[in-house]
Amino acid sequence: MQMSKISLFITVGVFSASIQAQTLTRDNGAPVGDNQNSIVAGENGSVLLQDVHLIQKLQRFARERIPERVVHARGTGAHGEFVASGDFSQLTASAPFTESGKVTPVFVRFSTVVHSKGSPETLRDPRGFATKFYTEQGNWDLVGNNLPVFFIRDSIKFPDMVHSLKPSPVTNVQDPNRFFDFFSHEPSSTNMLTWVYSNLGTPASYRTMNGFGVHAYKWINTQGDVNYVKFEWKSQQGVESLRPNEVAKVQSQDFNHLTNDLYTEISRGNYPKWDLYVKVLSPEELSKLDYNGLDATKVWLNVPDKKVGTMTLNRIPENFFLDTEQSAFAPSNLIPGIEPSEDRLLQGRLFAYADTQLYRLGANLFQLPVNRPLSTVNNHNQNGLSNKAKQANGDVNYEPSRQLDLSEDTQFKAVQTPLSGTVIQKAISNPRDYYQAGVLYRSMSYQDQSDLIANLAGDLNQVLDKDVKETMVSFFYRADKDYGTRLAKATHTDLASVKSKAMM
Ligand code: HEM
Repeated sequence: MQMSKISLFITVGVFSASIQAQTLTRDNGAPVGDNQNSIVAGENGSVLLQDVHLIQKLQRFARERIPERVVHARGTGAHGEFVASGDFSQLTASAPFTESGKVTPVFVRFSTVVHSKGSPETLRDPRGFATKFYTEQGNWDLVGNNLPVFFIRDSIKFPDMVHSLKPSPVTNVQDPNRFFDFFSHEPSSTNMLTWVYSNLGTPASYRTMNGFGVHAYKWINTQGDVNYVKFEWKSQQGVESLRPNEVAKVQSQDFNHLTNDLYTEISRGNYPKWDLYVKVLSPEELSKLDYNGLDATKVWLNVPDKKVGTMTLNRIPENFFLDTEQSAFAPSNLIPGIEPSEDRLLQGRLFAYADTQLYRLGANLFQLPVNRPLSTVNNHNQNGLSNKAKQANGDVNYEPSRQLDLSEDTQFKAVQTPLSGTVIQKAISNPRDYYQAGVLYRSMSYQDQSDLIANLAGDLNQVLDKDVKETMVSFFYRADKDYGTRLAKATHTDLASVKSKAMM
């Protein structure tokens, strides 16, 4: 049968479009003769196994989903660019920062954390703010959140924490009884819980959130000088959140409000922008802080910000799955000039993301267009499922070799870090679990404090175990007496018991 290729015009509303007729094919490229009817053995007979088009269509449909991200499952992405606002080569050899005006393409994925892929975007959660910089020295991922700290400081607690926050294995329903049971054993969470139960836990738009790298990283210049840095994205749109009474209203009107807002604004040319700032501390300055500067539950208080560039998001992906769902951000995607700090949480993340992505997307995930570096990948990692890379070096898939001069460049060796001490398993010695939550509470307006109390009480009032509830309120009391006292009232918790727990 001859394949027909007819060009026709159709009119939809006021728009005319030329549509090129094309022939439907199977995955092997062969034309499909009938896409409406299965092949049957006579008019009233069974469907035949020989209908390879039907079978392939059903098989491919059944395999459309890949595993959803174990956290941050619901997300939305956009492409854009980052422009450096100066030459910061005194501080880092890292490609995006060494020349004023330098443009680096980026892809950003915003996300919620705990809730599953189809969940409402109105639900309280920290929000992911992950940025992939496509540099000439490889991809660098800054995988952050919209809040500056985290709940825990050691990655060994992450699976427990996420299990408690995710739906119950019995009922499949998320339950404050479970996660407050966990958090009542984790006073380190007091600061982050104060951030996430503030209205920042329900952003009005992804465009109106700031972003934070949370951990300290090391910036290293070409002389090998090391400084510790923390990153912050500041929204040029300002910061806007939903107040408690607005959340239900938005949820009833449009629970995809964050994705719809981002797509709508970028589509009409209203490109959102963020300035990137760094806080910089020398190793000596870091060691003098009166809290542990490598503890992910702390911000660096009163350290000045230095602006290093501006990011603009200007293109939404043509296809959600290809770019957003298959994007793989990992703190281990580092480039010369930036190295991880000794932060215990970050060290766990260096392993966890790359590992989960090998499972979620397969060994050749870097060949997917959204994850592919601009620079040429030249190594002897090979084969694996769905590999479509050419093995560039013929017979030589090992190093060193007399047949091929493909070797390391020693200028990119890891920086040397002095060490002393013993191998131990021990909590950090200066946790200061409560004090920054108090600093944060006291920095809020009365209305923001009241919203925080209302938000927290909403969930704490579902907790049935008196001990869990009193312990949680005692953490906030230790952060700030007024905070704890108001929360005790809002949660009908006995203040005397709270105070005695706070003394313990
Ligand atoms: C040890 C602690 C942590 C562990 C083990 C962990 C683990 C994970 C895992 C397994 C994923 C899914 C990745 C994927 O399937 O592609 C993920 C996603 C993510 N995590 Fe974490 N996480 C930790 C802490 C944090 C912290 C502190 C932040 C913020 C600074 C963060 C921000 C994110 C973001 C933004 C994503 C989504 C990335 C995307 O958009 O694809 N996580 N995390």
